[in-house]
Amino acid sequence: MIFVTLRDSTGLLQVTVKKGLVSDEEFKKATEATLEASVVVEGDVHADARAPGGVEVQCTNFRLIANSIEEYPIKLGVGKELLLDKRHLHIRSPKVAAILSIRSAFSDAAREWFKGKSFHEVYCPILITAACEGGATLFPVKYFKRKAFLSQSVQLYQETAIMSFEKVYSIEPSFRAELSRTRRHLTEFWQIEAEVANADLEDIMRVKEELLTHIFSKIVKDCEAKFNFLNVKFTPPKPPFPRITYSEAVERLQSFDMKIEWGDGLGADEERMLSKEFDSPFFIKYYPRKSKAFYHKPYPADPELTLSADLLAPDGQGEIAGGGQRIDDYNELVQSMEMFQLNPEDYQWYLDLRKFGSVVHSGFGLGIERTVQWMLKLPHIRDACLYPRTPSRVYP
Ligand code: 4AD
Ligand code: MG
Repeated sequence: MIFVTLRDSTGLLQVTVKKGLVSDEEFKKATEATLEASVVVEGDVHADARAPGGVEVQCTNFRLIANSIEEYPIKLGVGKELLLDKRHLHIRSPKVAAILSIRSAFSDAAREWFKGKSFHEVYCPILITAACEGGATLFPVKYFKRKAFLSQSVQLYQETAIMSFEKVYSIEPSFRAELSRTRRHLTEFWQIEAEVANADLEDIMRVKEELLTHIFSKIVKDCEAKFNFLNVKFTPPKPPFPRITYSEAVERLQSFDMKIEWGDGLGADEERMLSKEFDSPFFIKYYPRKSKAFYHKPYPADPELTLSADLLAPDGQGEIAGGGQRIDDYNELVQSMEMFQLNPEDYQWYLDLRKFGSVVHSGFGLGIERTVQWMLKLPHIRDACLYPRTPSRVYP
């Protein structure tokens, strides 16, 4: 008798192939089948508490479709780099597949929420000519005789679309030529981004909070078996998420003797420290102007600050979403571009939005991989991708 472990998209199944119950030819094929061979099995299903999944199939018909022609390179104990080089094979592992399917459920749940709230999905360009998040991290692309770039965020295009649809969202890739080799940086990642007309900072924070609350509660229900299989306990955090200001964050950090001055950006170390103070995601509001991109609206009572709010995840994860209220006044936007040394010529279409019936509006972008990394307690963000892209990896 031969035991065969079968895998398909629903999981693992134990099959017994017994001499006499299949033809001699089929039995021989079963003995020749190697690790990762593809096969077709017909048989009788029996309950068996000892088998994985609690059932066993007694084979009556065995067909070997394709055998492995070399030894399968993924074995117990191989290193992380080899697993990444062989990612195209490693994704067959039930553990990797469970992570990727939770990630897929994550965007399904987001779409469901947006649909229920009458948001309109828009499909924004990936090839672009004007930076959203600063020129330093743009990936250049040769575009025939001109130069174009890969999109860092669909935000600026979403701002154009709210004039037709009021509430829009997109689930699209973002690219950043960032040399950061950390456990939470990729050069290609996906964002769930939304933009809402006639919404201010407080409104958009509630959108972020409601969206995430829906995603978390839907996912733990729909993917319960996968969480169990991965041995991850995830308790959906309850809204409202705590809110602190940037200035309070700096004071807290200084009280831990961290070297940070008011006005500095919050780096990975600072975010990690703060995120250990909370046990649910939390907002940091009112970042200083110089630490945020040009489009953030200054806080009217203190123009050194912006009407911005990042969402940070606890357990040391740090930022998972950024966003806030956008500058809606033409002159203020031109001034801001000059302050950030951007050329208003490059942004004529974006400036047009402030010329023709501008409205108060706000939006945000949520990093999918970072959020999945946090939910599943993954040691590295690359584990949340089908094919991770980092400064040292664009293969396979
Ligand atoms: O904070 P960011 O740069 O914000 C924007 O791109 C806005 N334009 C979004 C908007 O308002 N529509 O990026 C948003 C999120 C971050 O909070 C983080 O979760 C993720 O995108 N992110 C990254 N994820 C992985 N690797 C990187 N290098 C990332 N950079 C940002
Ligand atoms: Mg950010």
